[in-house]
Amino acid sequence: MVTMTSQIPTIALVPGSRREDSLNVALAHHAASVLSARGARPFVVHLDEYDMPLYDGDCEQAVGVPDEAVRLHDVLVAADAVVFVSPEYNSAPTPLLKNVIDWVTRVSKRPLEGKPVGLMSATPGPGGGVTGLEVLDVIMKSLRADRTVAPVPVGNARSRIDQKDPVLQEQLEAFADALVSDMTGIVAP
Ligand SMILES: Cc1cc2nc3c(=O)[nH]c(=O)nc-3n(C[C@H](O)[C@H](O)[C@H](O)COP(=O)(O)O)c2cc1C
Repeated sequence: MVTMTSQIPTIALVPGSRREDSLNVALAHHAASVLSARGARPFVVHLDEYDMPLYDGDCEQAVGVPDEAVRLHDVLVAADAVVFVSPEYNSAPTPLLKNVIDWVTRVSKRPLEGKPVGLMSATPGPGGGVTGLEVLDVIMKSLRADRTVAPVPVGNARSRIDQKDPVLQEQLEAFADALVSDMTGIVAP
């Protein structure tokens, strides 16, 4: 549990895809609506609004950390919780997401330390990105994030999101209850 800075907890949902028809962006919005119904204040962070080069130590030394990385860092630090919603690419989170995490950790070393972090993944096939979530969890562990809330893999995501699958709804509600209770200490009835 974290000390709340405001009455209504803010939650940054960060999809690891900026594809126009992204399943993970759709899942992030779906999760945001469930979190909102639980009294939280979620917002989706679109990474196309935080354009930054591929991390390179020489580039950092020459021109410093990009302003976009500082801006994203500050958004994540200010949120009461962060939810990463990443596609699985070859059993790992996307390079887009890894790259922004790498840049953000050049602004401060452990921006997510102690912060409740949720992990989700949507895939078109049945796998749900389980291995990618495990890799993301290792990264969150190294950043000392609060990893109390169980990750949510969503396989067959296209039809499940479009058809408002009741099992997915239950998964998201359980996730939202766990995250909100981790942030506030209030357990859902
Ligand atoms: C390079 C690459 C690797 C992929 N590897 C996996 C994978 O390991 N497991 C999986 O379930 N899907 C994999 N996919 C398919 C993605 O899950 C699919 O493209 C998904 O729609 C991407 O997420 P988005 O819709 O949010 O952009 C891969 C796709 C690409 C482009």
